[in-house]
Amino acid sequence: MDPNEAMETLEWGPAPETDTDARAWIEGHEGRFGLYINGKWQNSEGDVRFDSRNPATGEILASIAQGSASDVDAAVAAARKAQGKWEGLGESGRARHLYALARAIQKQSRLFATVETLDNGKPIRETRDIDVPLVVRHFFHHAGWARLRNTKAPNMEPWGVCGQVIPWNFPLLMLAWKIAPALAAGNTVVLKPAEYTSLSALLFAETCNQVGLPPGVVNIVTGDGRTGASIVEHDGVDKVAFTGSTEVGRIIRKAIAGSGKGLTLELGGKSPYIIFEDADIDSAVEGLVDAIWFNQGQVCCAGSRLLVQESVAEIVHAKIEARMSKLRIGNPMDKSVDMGAIVDEVQLIEIRGKCDAAEAEGNRRISAPLNAPKDGWWFPPTFFPDVAPSSTIAQEEVFGPVLVSMTFRSPTEAIALANNTRYGLAGSVWSQDVDTAIEIARNIQAGVIWINCTNQFDAAAGFGGYRESGFGREGGLEGFRAYLRPSHAHDASKVHDFSSRGIGDVREPEGTLPPLDQTAKLYIGGKQVRPDGGYSLEVRSPSNEVEGLVGRGNRKDMRNAVEAASKATTWSKMSGHARSQVLWYLAENMQQRAIGLSARISALTGASPEDALHEVEQALDRWTYWASWADKHDGAVHDAPFHGLVVALHEPVGVSGLICPDENPLLGLIALAAPLLAAGNRIVALPSESAPLLATDLYQVLETSDVPAGTFNIITGLHTELAPVLASHDDVQMIWHAGSSSLSEDIEVATVGNMKRSWTSPHFDPWSIKDSMSEHMLQHATHVKNIWIPHGI
Ligand code: NAI
Repeated sequence: MDPNEAMETLEWGPAPETDTDARAWIEGHEGRFGLYINGKWQNSEGDVRFDSRNPATGEILASIAQGSASDVDAAVAAARKAQGKWEGLGESGRARHLYALARAIQKQSRLFATVETLDNGKPIRETRDIDVPLVVRHFFHHAGWARLRNTKAPNMEPWGVCGQVIPWNFPLLMLAWKIAPALAAGNTVVLKPAEYTSLSALLFAETCNQVGLPPGVVNIVTGDGRTGASIVEHDGVDKVAFTGSTEVGRIIRKAIAGSGKGLTLELGGKSPYIIFEDADIDSAVEGLVDAIWFNQGQVCCAGSRLLVQESVAEIVHAKIEARMSKLRIGNPMDKSVDMGAIVDEVQLIEIRGKCDAAEAEGNRRISAPLNAPKDGWWFPPTFFPDVAPSSTIAQEEVFGPVLVSMTFRSPTEAIALANNTRYGLAGSVWSQDVDTAIEIARNIQAGVIWINCTNQFDAAAGFGGYRESGFGREGGLEGFRAYLRPSHAHDASKVHDFSSRGIGDVREPEGTLPPLDQTAKLYIGGKQVRPDGGYSLEVRSPSNEVEGLVGRGNRKDMRNAVEAASKATTWSKMSGHARSQVLWYLAENMQQRAIGLSARISALTGASPEDALHEVEQALDRWTYWASWADKHDGAVHDAPFHGLVVALHEPVGVSGLICPDENPLLGLIALAAPLLAAGNRIVALPSESAPLLATDLYQVLETSDVPAGTFNIITGLHTELAPVLASHDDVQMIWHAGSSSLSEDIEVATVGNMKRSWTSPHFDPWSIKDSMSEHMLQHATHVKNIWIPHGI
């Protein structure tokens, strides 16, 4: 036979992986699994069960326990009981256990891979070569973090009991991403796998027993969303970590608002995949195959939105069509199959529905041939080559093997299109021009950027989103630190008891009042402006004397302030060095007013002159401290097993709402504003409600210190009125709240609109060095963006 002809006509032979051991393991449990609580297997309350199926055939694989609220109680109690002892094991002890888990998974890696493929439907090629090796790497890497905890995160302690809920697309890998850092930090966990894919978590539970992990350190409670809700809402859970849909992320954010629980959310995405005309087109198309058809497209960071430069669109589209028609879909246990089955019929119906709707909207659809088995749930590689940026299929996550494409002409247009999404999880940039590639990478608002590559993951590099893709990182030092908190953060004895005082009646602007121009105004966009409503508030001393008036800001003032902050991008783009200089200058100019400020503190709070002066000195010290940090909160270059650089950049989060404590009116404001500014954020601040004149006294300091207009906006008024408006504003990317805890719930609920980051710290003590002069504040004030740059000649 002519070899050229053979290349075109040869059929693939079957290359099946055996599932004998996986099935024997299931048989060993008689096809019925219980809950794993306190190191033992137990039935769920009432022995309620559901089936887990093989997506490639529809056959029932096993019967799984549906955990109830009382089962969750038992798991949380076991985790609580185990936590002290686990923490007491110390760094080396915990490191050894994590190492043992890594080794045990490595030694039965093929069993894990086949169980995962049977239960999830993803190709064995992926579970064997990607999922399981990454799981092992994660446990190894975190054995290291366990050993280095006190070196790399001094003055921090574990949260306690972590409630973790994971999805079905990378069942074992998501388990590893959650459990490894939690355990390394000294927490214990109650984890719920997704209902479609419980089996690898149950095999992991068995492994915990094999390696002698102390009972109660890991608890696995299977079940559906109701079980998940019982875990996240449980009073005994200190920190919640969730990966899944943005919709459920919102429900969880609301459900635990005001509870003081830690929260990290890894949600959906609609990630751009950008091909420039100077890219290596064949590599870019090959990368795209992986970006969108890996794991049947059921990947939160899938490169599902192709942006291709107009001059090469035709050729790129033709190559995609050619390539997708050659993908082999079928039995995921076959080692030469490219795409396996969709996880469940429910998900298949979702994907079909979204594609049919897109076609009905007039979008041209190209589907690859589907020679899939008769049974099971399958969907062909699908391509919508010319969608409008606003079309539903270009905006909504499909979570299936579905690609859309749009064209652009200039790099500026590419950036605008890339950021035209409510998500911000990942992005890929393909260009051989290093200037273009890095400039685009820096401008995409997303947590992970791959240059001339895609879908690179490693335990040493953080993964997580901006905007509605959630907050918090998994992997890297930042992911590890998310499982720790400052050692006294939950110490209720630190709560200061101060009665509300100072704000008097609301007065009409007419009548017996002093004229408006004697009232301290609001500070918006670098200017002092009268409050929109024309109302003012009296500020009173402890002996109830009126000390002055401030404007009563309203919703409109808040909108104006956010707009001013949104436009003030100069501050975020300035170098750390330039920001540092402005912060030093602020300190210098404030120092000249130290006597006046301390007199004001005494008058409004009753503090002695010495104490008041001390507060001013401390506030000056905070400016200089954070001025010193502004050019030193460096990112990192990670040592990932990858031929290239993984560059972790610290980026400002953006427009930040700051709700200040009532007490320590000057220090409370500056201790929080200075780190936000040092990190490059712009602020809309609600200063102390009872003593806002300390903030309004700062206007002239801000005006004389070269702070760009709109960088620092101050709105006086009632926190109950203003804080929810600030927290729900879609152009605010983050909320810091160090005020009264009674407002925390309203504020956190209000954040769900755009899933903004929030940091609530009702016990924040601006005098405490641990609280207010610690690098962890900069971690709250920044996003980490990881840029993967392969190289070679
Ligand atoms: P989901 O977000 O409903 O489920 C994820 C996990 O959350 C599962 O373990 C589920 O049992 C649990 N859960 C559901 N409701 C809960 C609640 N109220 N409280 C606590 N836990 C709860 O995702 P689902 O329904 O499986 O898939 C729907 C869509 O979500 C997909 O089409 C996809 O768009 C997106 N998704 C995104 C993932 C990601 O990695 N970002 C992963 C899985 C799904």
